[in-house]
Amino acid sequence: MIRTLVLPTPADVGEAAADEIAAVVAERPDAVLGLATGDSPLGAYSTLADRVQRGELDLSRARGFALDEYVGLDPADPQSYRSVIDRTVTTPLRMRRAVVRVPDGAAADLAAAADEYERALEESGVDIQVLGIGSNGHIGFNEPGSAFGTRTRVVELSERTRLDNARFFPSLADVPTHALTQGLGTIMRARRIVLVAIGERKADAITAAVEGPISVDCPASVLQAHPHVLLIADEAAGSRL
Ligand code: GLP
Repeated sequence: MIRTLVLPTPADVGEAAADEIAAVVAERPDAVLGLATGDSPLGAYSTLADRVQRGELDLSRARGFALDEYVGLDPADPQSYRSVIDRTVTTPLRMRRAVVRVPDGAAADLAAAADEYERALEESGVDIQVLGIGSNGHIGFNEPGSAFGTRTRVVELSERTRLDNARFFPSLADVPTHALTQGLGTIMRARRIVLVAIGERKADAITAAVEGPISVDCPASVLQAHPHVLLIADEAAGSRL
């Protein structure tokens, strides 16, 4: 069962997600945070940044693992998830960059980079995983059809995902066709998961994830089998629950 909190505004969603993360760090200052990119978790990250700035929260000992990375982008490219994580998480939350890892989508041997990332994740574990959801129900870059036991690997992006993410690139042709992503099996090992959804565009995916059958057609539905998942949605994303 996915515990669900539907809140009036995106700002409320950001606050509530930040509370979840901060509670884990309060218990364990060197917690391992699973980090998602995309717009959905930005409110949570900026709320945490405000608390860090006010001296209410210290993330200097926390570690992190990003969910995914595009294949073929230089890490210094502003649209690489390495850059996005640095810009939206590592720097504003004053985390140590060396212990905030992102898969190496520019590696010459991508399969080896994926295996190494999976091993590092397995060794350190993830205390709380932050997730967004794609409009087709993907989590990380695990597109519909991904097997539930999948590990970190190279995947091909669906047309819908490339269209959804085209807003960050000069044109659709510039959107990478492949990514490295933690698998559904990888994500399910996290001790706790907080899934954040904002906007009407996510309403169908959220309904399928929470109320639909556990099916590879909606990758996020696998979360129903996890013991500690909290979905935090604004009223628009939660409107069809
Ligand atoms: C991308 C990311 C996902 C993210 C999803 C939703 O495809 N790989 O991790 O959850 O987009 O993004 P947004 O939150 O911007 O809608």
